[in-house]
Amino acid sequence: MSSPSALSSEALAAIAKARTKAELEAIELEYLGRKSGRISSLLSGIGKLDPAERAKLGQAANEAKRAIEAGLAARQAEIESARLADIAETEAIDITFPGPPLGRGHIHVLTQVRRQIETVLESLGYQVELGPEVETEWYNFEALNLTAGHPARENWDSFYFTPELLLRAHNSPVQIRAMQRIKEPPIYIITPGRCYRRDAPEATRLPYFSQVEGLAVDHALTVGDMKGTLLYMIQSLYGKARKVRVRPSYFPFTEPSFEFDVTCGICNGMGCKSCRHKGWLEVGGCGMVHPQVLRNGGIDPTRWNGYAWGFGIERMAMLKHDVDDIRLFYESDLRFLEQF
Ligand code: DAH
Repeated sequence: MSSPSALSSEALAAIAKARTKAELEAIELEYLGRKSGRISSLLSGIGKLDPAERAKLGQAANEAKRAIEAGLAARQAEIESARLADIAETEAIDITFPGPPLGRGHIHVLTQVRRQIETVLESLGYQVELGPEVETEWYNFEALNLTAGHPARENWDSFYFTPELLLRAHNSPVQIRAMQRIKEPPIYIITPGRCYRRDAPEATRLPYFSQVEGLAVDHALTVGDMKGTLLYMIQSLYGKARKVRVRPSYFPFTEPSFEFDVTCGICNGMGCKSCRHKGWLEVGGCGMVHPQVLRNGGIDPTRWNGYAWGFGIERMAMLKHDVDDIRLFYESDLRFLEQF
């Protein structure tokens, strides 16, 4: 039978080789198990020994037991710290590691087009003038010669808050505000911004959209000045190949009034499917400011005259990028927006 010290060195050798907690537990059971552990078994015949031998063996067995326990605890600590070091290496998060790059947004196509229009007209001396989207009846209609009951009001079906207040149906009211604010011509302003009409959304119209209104008030302006300005704007935006034309029309706030057309960029004015074989695309209205409108803005029509226009910004963006459905601009679909 092995001596306690032989047993303990045997156990310590096994402990040194153990690699897992389970192996250590097996060793503990083998040597220190209460009933059949090898140390306990050593003591089973101890009663038959004489007292001196008994004390010696008991002491030696206790020492062996303590040595094995200490060995188990030390090895257990080693195994645990190796396990933690391993986790630190394989699973730890390196907080200094750069993350995936953030996707960068860009300016919405309508904002791009609006800024291009502003840049071109600012280069001609026009200033950007803004007005409120919630307007009074007077600025939105009355001051523009659209008196109550005027049949032309039907063209601007509006959203009303009260009989006096509405969402502006066009940007023309800012003409009046600009004249009142600036007072003394020359006045050269453009007014980009939203307006609202009671229309159901379709490929060509929406209940909300953007216009850029222009107003020039000066001495002896002519339709030629207006047409030249608009031609310059269109060619700056769409290229020199584009031609423009004005067609007689009617707006209560201008006299004479015109529709303003640009040659289709797809067929160069030859006529194709997208311009419905006309060769021309309509951009908006324009004309020479009506004397009463000047008066409503506080300007003396015997000393000054003016021209004005109002174009749809979505329409201008559609012309530039050959977009055939106005709703796309507001659907926030990245597959559409990322193209611009
Ligand atoms: N306000 C008009 C509309 O919304 C557009 C317009 C036409 C504006 C002629 C003008 C103009 O300044 O002279 O349909």
